[in-house]
Amino acid sequence: MNENWIDVGPSEQCLDGTAVEVIAGDHVIALFRIAGKLWAIDGICAHQGGPIAQGEIHDGCVTCPWHGWQYELATGVQTINRKTLQRVFPVRECEGRIEIQVSM
Ligand code: FES
Repeated sequence: MNENWIDVGPSEQCLDGTAVEVIAGDHVIALFRIAGKLWAIDGICAHQGGPIAQGEIHDGCVTCPWHGWQYELATGVQTINRKTLQRVFPVRECEGRIEIQVSM
């Protein structure tokens, strides 16, 4: 299986408590760092395409800034209908770089 870890930039681009939108392969991904841990979730909202990286974080969930849909960062589950609407991606740091795994 192709692990396909994609370098999306230096670690400093996503400091603790911040988020950034990155491109990994064909995917727009919202990258968050919360309490030191990185999370990567589909950056385009399943509702109408809002920018998830601009959402606020509360209790492990991101709120889309356009109409308020909320998703669990760990699973991509939408908190009202409990369906997995956003894809989530493995993310790691390696020698000062952030890498996201996008399976082929
Ligand atoms: S586009 Fe995200 S809630 Fe509507």
